[in-house]
Amino acid sequence: MRTLTAFPVLSPSDFLGSSAPYGFPVSQTSKVSYWYGARTAIRQGLVQIGIRPGDRVLVPAYACGSEVDTLLKCGCVLDYYRILPDMSPDLTHVVDLCSCPARAIFVINYFGFPQPMDTIMAVARAQGLLVIEDNAHGLFSADEQGRPLGSVGDLAVMSFTKALPLPDGGALVVNRSVEPQEVLVQRQRPHPLRVAGQMKSLIEFALARRYPTLVRSVKRLVLDPAIRVVKTIEGQAKASPAVAHAQAREWAFFEFKAERGSWTMSACSQYLLRRGLPHDVVVQRRRRNYLTVLGALQEGLRVRPLYRTFPAGCSPLFFPILAVELAGLRQYLTARGIESHRFGFFHESIPTKGFLFEESLKEQVLGLPLHQGLGDEDMVYLAGLLNDWNMNRVATAA
Ligand SMILES: Cc1ncc(COP(=O)(O)O)c(C=O)c1O
Repeated sequence: MRTLTAFPVLSPSDFLGSSAPYGFPVSQTSKVSYWYGARTAIRQGLVQIGIRPGDRVLVPAYACGSEVDTLLKCGCVLDYYRILPDMSPDLTHVVDLCSCPARAIFVINYFGFPQPMDTIMAVARAQGLLVIEDNAHGLFSADEQGRPLGSVGDLAVMSFTKALPLPDGGALVVNRSVEPQEVLVQRQRPHPLRVAGQMKSLIEFALARRYPTLVRSVKRLVLDPAIRVVKTIEGQAKASPAVAHAQAREWAFFEFKAERGSWTMSACSQYLLRRGLPHDVVVQRRRRNYLTVLGALQEGLRVRPLYRTFPAGCSPLFFPILAVELAGLRQYLTARGIESHRFGFFHESIPTKGFLFEESLKEQVLGLPLHQGLGDEDMVYLAGLLNDWNMNRVATAA
């Protein structure tokens, strides 16, 4: 069976490729600093631009949770704004919220699709707000005018681990000049065991994709029994119920850990970032994959693309869709080798009352794979499955 992973899989060429010239943000040496991930970059960005504990920040009610957790743990007071059906901020609501003084607006380029930054900047300037552009999904993506995402907001953050097979990594771009004496940047190298653990997971994942039977057997016959023995010895065998445990693990993945607030990008990720496929090849492949699915997708009632347009320059992280029976669709796709990605772990501080549209997005949006390691045949396979689902042909197609 064909397997489509949600994220790119590490391959030997990622280590051995020649150092390629990179575009934004790597090319912007004077504005960019490298951190352990986007969460650390947000924390560092707040310090650099002078947003202090107690400052009010306006955040979209459709958010992943990890950015919200970071802002809250940095002491920001958050207020949530609505988003419109085209996924852009509801700026009328933003202006209403400004009747109470606010310091900044936080904007997310969902799935690497550009937000209308010129309009957002104009409104923000009129209201005296700083603009933080969360471009965790949009590494290498650009807007209609060809401007790289993350190059317009006062601050922008990137997450490298979503678009590239790296153990860690993110960037902070400071597009607004900051008084140097105000900035006290702390830097700490990431814990080597943490980086090694992430690297091990990437390698295991890559091996499991390439040699599934061998890896399954080693896990069943060697690793699982060994882990059971260790857990029994440590008395953890009867730990918390499985569901609570899974939720805690999911949360651990999304939360902001204060001890990582000064961690820089590891040397391993710095190395890998400059190898692998050239930036423009990644962009072309992602765009081509998006267009292949879009072109093959038939209209139906159960699934439709989240975005109505596909701007020139956009290099998406996933093919985002709206699906009315999301759980069933995920199960159907998983059984056919397709991994999918739900957008985040919705933070409990995000209100639900008055945010009907954002609530429906949480229930219906799914990201489907289109990364640079996939090609035309993969995309045709994916679109075929979606069409079967859309046309209720699943029973016969199964
Ligand atoms: C919109 C958004 N912002 C920030 C982050 C945090 O990224 P990182 O895992 O690199 O800290 C994520 C993902 O978790 C995200 O989806």
